[in-house]
Amino acid sequence: MSNVIYMDHPLIKHKITMMRMKQTNTKDFRTLVEEVTVLMGYEALSDMKTREERIQTPIEDTVQPVLDGLDPAVVPILRAGLGMVGGMLTLLPSAKVGHIGMYRDEENHLPHPYYCKLPPRLKDRLVIVTDPMLATGGSLIDAVDEIKKQGGRNIKCMCIIASPEGVKAFSEKHPDVQLYVGSLDRCLNKDCYICPGLGDAGDRIFGTK
Ligand code: PRP
Ligand code: URA
Repeated sequence: MSNVIYMDHPLIKHKITMMRMKQTNTKDFRTLVEEVTVLMGYEALSDMKTREERIQTPIEDTVQPVLDGLDPAVVPILRAGLGMVGGMLTLLPSAKVGHIGMYRDEENHLPHPYYCKLPPRLKDRLVIVTDPMLATGGSLIDAVDEIKKQGGRNIKCMCIIASPEGVKAFSEKHPDVQLYVGSLDRCLNKDCYICPGLGDAGDRIFGTK
């Protein structure tokens, strides 16, 4: 699937392995999410446009590249996507931040939206959606539907762990959106959790279990 980009960096692999370990505590888990996000974000932003700007160094006048266009928007899917915001703001300190609230029904695993607030002028911004987990794909598909409804056209998604089922469903529904995946896992289990996965990402980031 040409819109899906898989990470292949030893640091990302190592840090995701540490995230998976059940003995990794909340504090370390949060730090790892942030570090993996910075490493993935560096890859995901490698095609950002630049323009030439005249500046002065202490030595001379020179024309040098700066990022072009409106500030990007980072849009976490609540809750777990919030854990990736700090990492993205390390790379893009002036980015705007939108929020999409979504939870999965425990019985049928369908996403339920409960909140949405996105930055203005979405159509002119790069929009980066963050969610550490892509399981059935339902949450990310619905989030991107909503962003497109509100004008978003240049959208990238970042998921730290994805299932083959989720990647397939997402890229069929949104073939125009680039999806960056830290690790492609084996499958979903009967409760639609990713295997081997890392459990419930929201609970591990916020210490709610
Ligand atoms: C998790 C995760 C994704 C979603 C993925 O959120 O952060 O948003 O599940 O599953 P899907 O691909 O099958 O839709 P959850 O619903 O557990 O909410 P939480 O982050 O508030 O815990
Ligand atoms: N959401 C999670 O947090 N983990 C999974 O494995 C699936 C959905």
